[in-house]
Amino acid sequence: MEKKQIGFELSIYQDVSELSQSEQKLLHAAEQAQKNAYAPYSNFQVGAAVLLENGEIIIGSNQENASYPSGLCAERVAVFQAGARYPGVALKMLAVTASSRHHLVDSPAAPCGNCRQSIMEYEQNQKSPIVILLKAEKGPIYKCNSMADILPLAFNSSFLGDS
Ligand code: THU
Repeated sequence: MEKKQIGFELSIYQDVSELSQSEQKLLHAAEQAQKNAYAPYSNFQVGAAVLLENGEIIIGSNQENASYPSGLCAERVAVFQAGARYPGVALKMLAVTASSRHHLVDSPAAPCGNCRQSIMEYEQNQKSPIVILLKAEKGPIYKCNSMADILPLAFNSSFLGDS
């Protein structure tokens, strides 16, 4: 029997001023996008912004529905839009911000499992990491170096064989 530890590097910043200009710009784009969240059920607003290798920034926000599972997270709204508008263009960085109408969100909301799985496929296809920046209304900012870091042992198309 063998045991293996799987860890990852999480960078924690106390203030946006510690980030690069392009990181700050992407977080700002996510915060702007967050204002257009349609979240009448959860009252939890999420914004996402993706920086592409061609310099474009694509934004998204969570879009809910009276039939709850029909809604979509901000991250997938942004990343799917990027894939639809700029197929084959690599995603360099994804910023995610969140707030709530019920309470002060003071620690970064991390992408849900479905978003991690969806974004992981883009990362694997492009063969380069997608940096992830996470920020709440208050509190620290987190940076992860890749989606693979926060989705270890991921399922991917290789398991399906070459049908
Ligand atoms: N949500 C996101 O947009 N991204 C996440 O990573 C977590 C959750 C949304 C989905 C739903 O509209 C609301 O937040 C509450 O779950």
